[in-house]
Amino acid sequence: MEDLILVTGGAGFIGSNFILQWIPSESSRLLNLDKLTYAGNLNNLSAVAGHPRYRFEPGDIVDRKCLRGLFQHQQPRAIVHFAAESHVDRSIHGPDDFIHTNVNGTFNLLEETRAYWTGLAEADRTRFRFLHVSTDEVYGSLGPDDPAFSETTPYAPNSPYSASKAASDHLVRAYHHTYGLPVVTTNCSNNYGPCQFPEKLIPLMILNACAGKPLPVYGDGENVRDWLYVEDHCRALRTVLADGRVGETYNIGGRSERKNLEIVGDICRLLDELHPNDSGASYSRLVTFVKDRPGHDRRYAMDTRKIERELRWQPQETFESGLRKTVSWYLEHQDWVHDVTSGSYRQWMAKNYAQR
Ligand code: NAD
Ligand code: DAU
Repeated sequence: MEDLILVTGGAGFIGSNFILQWIPSESSRLLNLDKLTYAGNLNNLSAVAGHPRYRFEPGDIVDRKCLRGLFQHQQPRAIVHFAAESHVDRSIHGPDDFIHTNVNGTFNLLEETRAYWTGLAEADRTRFRFLHVSTDEVYGSLGPDDPAFSETTPYAPNSPYSASKAASDHLVRAYHHTYGLPVVTTNCSNNYGPCQFPEKLIPLMILNACAGKPLPVYGDGENVRDWLYVEDHCRALRTVLADGRVGETYNIGGRSERKNLEIVGDICRLLDELHPNDSGASYSRLVTFVKDRPGHDRRYAMDTRKIERELRWQPQETFESGLRKTVSWYLEHQDWVHDVTSGSYRQWMAKNYAQR
């Protein structure tokens, strides 16, 4: 076994932030397997592209032959599994890709991992880890006064996306229970930060505002999410990979519950300060209430006491400091924005927002 970790989906938002943090902080080599869907962007990784401990491999987690070859030749000591279709609205318009990648892809990855792991020497088998990166959405939706989701909250996914992630979590769990595969699962709340594809709330609002376009708030804007700065999530994942207990799940969150409307207001205020309109009018005039997302979960909140207690992890960024960094990043990276808001992005915007 080599001192190498295999990351799936490392060209996406969280995966790329994870790699950018891993390379300067850790000593193991890292291999990034990514299919480069619309959400995968190698520009996110330009800072490490030529690094001797980093390598990119184009490939699909559904492709078992590709996976088998990688395991045979690379002999990783761990897998950090990010690859997924990740956007709830896309899962509503077309769930097929979500089942294909999130369910079948995770299954194929587990099968090939099991075959590889079974053939390892005893000490390597013990040392090996499969870290499955999942979401708080598998737990369903909370009422305003419900306690936050804990690791023992029953699963109740409500969207095709969250159902596909729940299915993958169950498979990962079963591979530990049945075959003894040394897995750890993390369930994290909403991330935000640099390199997030602008189909998600925060970057979409920043870019629409800058372009003078409407800021489409679904329903009454009172839905609540628990926001975590992406670098804090990546630190949590490194901690869980190093010290998490095999077979356990860990909830990760920011203890930062916010209503969507509050967030859009915060973004407008930051833009008024950092990128004021020529007319002097506030960006908040662009807020537009639109038809709600079908099956829209009302509230997510994470009880993170387990990871705080066992692994001494806590977020370092406040929501206010993280949002300011994020807005500044998008303002300062116009080339990145220009690249990702190409033809296919415009088609998605037209499709998703036409009926709202
Ligand atoms: P993303 O959509 O930005 O990136 C997904 C990446 O996976 C892309 O690079 C894409 O090219 C790649 N990919 C997709 N299908 C693939 C396949 N079949 N084979 C190989 N690569 C493939 O997603 P993200 O926001 O970075 O999320 C990463 C993971 O974290 C996902 O599993 C997601 O469910 C989970 N998660 C996300 C959040 C969040 O707020 N974004 C919160 C909790 C958990
Ligand atoms: O909770 C973790 C999840 O967070 C991750 O598992 C998902 O991969 C990630 O996409 C995210 O899901 P959400 O659906 O919560 O994120 P999104 O940014 O799409 O939406 C956040 C909230 O903002 C949600 O209540 C819907 C609302 N929204 C979103 C968009 C895109 C709007 O009001 N208008 C919009 O245009």
